[in-house]
Amino acid sequence: MEYLKITEELSFSRIIQGFWRLVQWDWSTKELEAFMQGCIERGVTTFDTAEVYGFGQCETQLGKVFSKNPSLRKQIQLVSKTGIFNHDGFKYYDTSYERIKASCKESLQRLSCDSLDLYLIHREDPCFDPQETGKALLELKKEGLVKEIGVSNFDPIKFQALNQFCENLLCTNQIEWNPCCFEHIQSGMIDLLTQNHLHPMIWSPLAGGKLFTSQESPYIKVTEKLSEIAQRHGVEAEIIAYAWLLYHPVKAMPIVGSSKLSRLDSAIKALDVTLERWEWYEIYTASSGARLR
Ligand SMILES: NC(=O)c1ccc[n+]([C@@H]2O[C@H](COP(=O)([O-])OP(=O)(O)OC[C@H]3O[C@@H](n4cnc5c(N)ncnc54)[C@H](OP(=O)(O)O)[C@@H]3O)[C@@H](O)[C@H]2O)c1
Repeated sequence: MEYLKITEELSFSRIIQGFWRLVQWDWSTKELEAFMQGCIERGVTTFDTAEVYGFGQCETQLGKVFSKNPSLRKQIQLVSKTGIFNHDGFKYYDTSYERIKASCKESLQRLSCDSLDLYLIHREDPCFDPQETGKALLELKKEGLVKEIGVSNFDPIKFQALNQFCENLLCTNQIEWNPCCFEHIQSGMIDLLTQNHLHPMIWSPLAGGKLFTSQESPYIKVTEKLSEIAQRHGVEAEIIAYAWLLYHPVKAMPIVGSSKLSRLDSAIKALDVTLERWEWYEIYTASSGARLR
């Protein structure tokens, strides 16, 4: 496994395991513990969750494992997020000072932990005051409840606005990126991160599985191209999808969302595959139909 320095104090495994879908997996604490140990044995030591996943249930399930086996918490880097809430089934965002401070303490309680390695603001909040949000994040860091701070799904303008009020301590942006999603390439976010030597965490690296299950045209076109390139390299198409993300100089860290360690192995194998530059562009143009001039 490769590890990347996120800050002077913190390194992440280049391949991260995500737990968004954990509640659907319907696992016992023992099954979850075995899965987490399987990740650690593979060198995948960075785990991603959020307060909104299963409306707190995901953190609670992870917390039960940490209570049962406290040594496990020491072997991993734990990431959680705040900012998405529900009022009688209606979704809204809240990045206010009071909410962030309270949410972090609630997450730690559910996770049965003293601190998080990284705490993220989950989504861009249209009703966002960067000064207030920044103050809350800096205080959590000073109180030792979170080691590092960052954001998720932010565009360059909101990223820079918040960073200004966080003593430039934002250390990542967790963003959606896969061969059918180019939002952050188009917004310039990936350029901003590359320029600042910050590494994004990548969610839905396989488009939530749609790369291999959807019958819609962009996915079919990409999958055909991934399979063609995979044949050339003598590996599976899934590995090429991860290799495409890993190729970029920003040094992205894909978050695998699968419940199967065999699929985590595919992401790990991608670390040994180097695409030709023209192969990267074959995938880049396959779904978007982007015309290079
Ligand atoms: N910051 C954010 O806003 C945000 C948003 C979404 C997610 N996330 C994070 O990112 C993580 C990953 O996101 P994701 O779960 O969407 O990632 P993903 O890895 O793109 O998708 C995982 C899903 O695809 C399925 N899958 C994988 N390979 C497949 C194949 N070859 N054929 C059919 N199905 C396949 C998996 O099913 P199996 O379990 O059966 O393998 C699973 O349901 C999440 O766990 C979460 O931590 C963050």
